[in-house]
Amino acid sequence: MEVVLSGIRPTGNLHLGNYFGAVRNFIKMQEENSCYFFIADYHSLTTHPTPADLHGNIRNVLAEFLATGLDPEKATLYVQSDLPETAELYLLLNMNAYIGELERCTSFKEKIRKHPENVNAGLLTYPTLMAADILLHRAHKVPVGKDQEQHLEMTRTFARRFNRMYNIEFFPEPQAYNFGEELVKVPGLDGSGKMGKSESEGNAIFLVDSPEIIRKKVMRAVSDAGPTEEGQAKTEAVENLFSLLKIMSKPETLAFFEDEYLNCRIRYGDLKKQLAEDIILFTSPIRERILEIRDDNEYLRKVTKMGAEKARESASKTIKEIREIIGISSF
Ligand code: ADP
Ligand code: TRP
Repeated sequence: MEVVLSGIRPTGNLHLGNYFGAVRNFIKMQEENSCYFFIADYHSLTTHPTPADLHGNIRNVLAEFLATGLDPEKATLYVQSDLPETAELYLLLNMNAYIGELERCTSFKEKIRKHPENVNAGLLTYPTLMAADILLHRAHKVPVGKDQEQHLEMTRTFARRFNRMYNIEFFPEPQAYNFGEELVKVPGLDGSGKMGKSESEGNAIFLVDSPEIIRKKVMRAVSDAGPTEEGQAKTEAVENLFSLLKIMSKPETLAFFEDEYLNCRIRYGDLKKQLAEDIILFTSPIRERILEIRDDNEYLRKVTKMGAEKARESASKTIKEIREIIGISSF
């Protein structure tokens, strides 16, 4: 059976983009594979969150994973820092990760540009920490978005380098897993680009948002003055609203508004009202479960304990073998 693994940084609440771009795929995969899904809390330390924010966000993402249907009985659901083996493999991999290749990494260059005041070693070695997550379970497939492909390429480099150095076929080379046509990009509400939590205020709809907040955000979404002649191309903002309808609404609803646009009769207010209600229909049951689970410490404790135990079975086996391979086995 193939080993599938993916992680999400706990930097806020999950939004529709995270759901349709990542979590929904995790839910499908858990049925047929040996899956590891985890909350990458070590990774979020590179941005120096306060302890309260970090802990709160781990709780949020965990509750949201569970509320959307990730099943701790089917998949191994865990918190990255519950596995000390992650830190050990990170240390070992860093010995063979070269400064030059780490500095060339696009996400590192981007971080330096955006936050020149906080260029820490954790940022530089972000790819080796991610490689440690993946190689710890000797994963074959990693469902991630396009933005993570370079990190995965580096993971393959580290895996190959280890295998060559010790002349052993130990790590498989993990492949990015995307769902082909099913890989969706969820646009945001601010008229440009994708939905994301670090974009402008109100750009993202979170799974935990109340119906009132969802209505407010959608009604304020950027649109335009409306088409004046038949067949006029859509502006990016309006294209985004239609993409959201395509993801969230029934095909008839999409067809209706496409037709209205074509005939220049479209009222964006009506479209937004319908879109908001369709989003609410989808998020409401999830939101109810999130609110229930989020405050259930006992359940969260049980799930994380079980996840850590399952994950450590595979992690400790890998670490034991690696120690022997590199020559730090016991007497
Ligand atoms: P954000 O952009 O809000 O910071 P993350 O980078 O933490 O989100 O994303 C976590 C996962 O969710 C990644 O696998 C990413 O590809 C996916 N994802 C995030 N935003 C979107 C989006 N708008 N459309 C599709 N997938 C997304
Ligand atoms: N770097 C990933 C992101 O920002 C999160 C992540 C950490 C991850 N470790 C991973 C994803 C291992 C896949 C596999 O989205």
